[in-house]
Amino acid sequence: MHSLMKYNIGIFQCPLCKSNLDVEEEYIICRENGHRFDIIDDIPIMFTEGGGEYADKIVIKVKKFYEENPFPNYDDTDNPSSLINKAEASVFAKLLNDGLPFNIKILEVGCGTGQLSNYLSLANRRVFGIDISLNSLFLANNFKRDNSLKNVSFYQMNLFKPIFKDESFDAIICNGVLHHTHEAYEGMNIITKLLKNRGFLIIGLYNRYGRLFTKLRKPIFRLTGNRLHVLDPYLSRTDLTDVKKNAWFLDQYHNPHETTHSFGEVLEWFSKSGIEFISSIPVFGNIAYLDEDYDIFLKKSSGSVFSRFITQIAMPFITNKEGGFFVMIGRKNS
Ligand SMILES: C[S@@+](CC[C@H](N)C(=O)[O-])C[C@H]1O[C@@H](n2cnc3c(N)ncnc32)[C@H](O)[C@@H]1O
Repeated sequence: MHSLMKYNIGIFQCPLCKSNLDVEEEYIICRENGHRFDIIDDIPIMFTEGGGEYADKIVIKVKKFYEENPFPNYDDTDNPSSLINKAEASVFAKLLNDGLPFNIKILEVGCGTGQLSNYLSLANRRVFGIDISLNSLFLANNFKRDNSLKNVSFYQMNLFKPIFKDESFDAIICNGVLHHTHEAYEGMNIITKLLKNRGFLIIGLYNRYGRLFTKLRKPIFRLTGNRLHVLDPYLSRTDLTDVKKNAWFLDQYHNPHETTHSFGEVLEWFSKSGIEFISSIPVFGNIAYLDEDYDIFLKKSSGSVFSRFITQIAMPFITNKEGGFFVMIGRKNS
């Protein structure tokens, strides 16, 4: 049980006192102060509060929401080959899979129901998925177990109270998570510490301008009793089950806490945290460009204030179906 954690125990720490850990059959214990964490259904329960009163208030609210509405959820028929097909249809997951080397350690922060972690582990990488929602992690772990995936493991953790030591990972992915916390920059700063020097940071956030139509649709759904789904391009898709559409609808329109951010803001965060900008989706100054040859780990220009602005105001019209989402990739230099 928990062989991946045992095998990599050197990268783990107690989220309360940062001391080393021992993995027992049914629990995990910290060596210095005896803090004990249960293991339920193969998932170490290592979520702790302690980020401050406001931070904890948000994390409890968001946790409750995702315990009730695991995201993005699975279809009943999902298996490794359908997981690959769906992941590759999203282009982003395929670009990650194509660009990330084998035999590296990846942390997915806020992995939700674990699709990306499970997918990336198929290519012989050690993937660690963490989330605050235990119900999401159960779904992630069921998929892993049912399909005998050996290189991925899941942990309940609050990103503000890490269970990993500094400089443990070659790549950290945090997609759609930081904007559901009390302070996205502080969250990014904390997870950046877990990255090795020259490691890649991949973060996905809601864009201030790109999210315009989603914000406009919110009151319309409220006034029409959650009808008029045809207004949301994702909800109009015919290739998705109702389970997944419902998870999307709640995530987009009933989330208890979300913030939005701009390209310039994240560039500033990167520079304050010792992260070199590498690339973005959408591409600054060329929003229409994204194909399977785009190497997201190859350094691109960060554009000008003007080109970034134009890209952002075009987002609601061109990338609207992703809910105004953008991704920025950086490399740690410290
Ligand atoms: C919109 S979902 C994104 C899930 C997945 N990354 C994806 O792209 O499909 C946001 C996830 O962030 C998790 N989350 C929110 N705040 C968190 C925190 N403080 N620490 C860890 N995970 C958090 C939620 O539980 C939820 O599963």
